[in-house]
Amino acid sequence: MQIKEITTNKTDYTDILLIGDEDKKMINKYLEQSTLYALYKNNVLASICAVAEIDNETVEIKNLATYPEYRNEGNASALIDFVCNKYKTNFKYLILGTGENINTLKFYKKHGFQETHKLKNFFIENYSHPIFEDGKQLKDMIYLKKIL
Ligand SMILES: CC(C)(COP(=O)(O)OP(=O)(O)OC[C@H]1O[C@@H](n2cnc3c(N)ncnc32)[C@H](O)[C@@H]1OP(=O)(O)O)[C@@H](O)C(=O)NCCC(=O)NCCS
Repeated sequence: MQIKEITTNKTDYTDILLIGDEDKKMINKYLEQSTLYALYKNNVLASICAVAEIDNETVEIKNLATYPEYRNEGNASALIDFVCNKYKTNFKYLILGTGENINTLKFYKKHGFQETHKLKNFFIENYSHPIFEDGKQLKDMIYLKKIL
């Protein structure tokens, strides 16, 4: 397994980023200011994580996704660990916003994140079409924070 830091030609990764965030317009809002961390298995792209610096003490995971055939092998967890180690020297907090999905929230809490607040109706007001995950329409954006 290999993790590469990507700072140029980031649009080459649009396909995998669309798994974590299905609206290209939303991706384009954060792609330029984000660094991508791409995880490869035997030189094949398996997972991606987009990270943006928010202020002097906070970095945000803007996107985290694994191709279906590489899920449940610890790839997204490895990316979270990598990002925590990378940023912990210079930043205090790692934050992220996600849909209200029990599996996703459980996953992040297992990795040391705690819920801080929610943005009511974020997915309804900011996306051009309804977003469904595991058969449930996403409405609020749940924010989580981890102390690095
Ligand atoms: C969430 C996601 C990135 C996890 O990737 P992964 O490489 O399989 O992650 P890992 O192998 O490190 O961990 C697997 C864990 O993810 C959990 N998980 C998190 N979100 C999940 C979801 N929406 N559906 C199913 N499982 C999910 C699994 O339950 C499993 O938990 P466990 O470790 O307690 O068994 C991947 O399922 C994915 O790309 N989902 C679609 C995009 C998405 O929902 N992104 C997260 C919001 S930004």
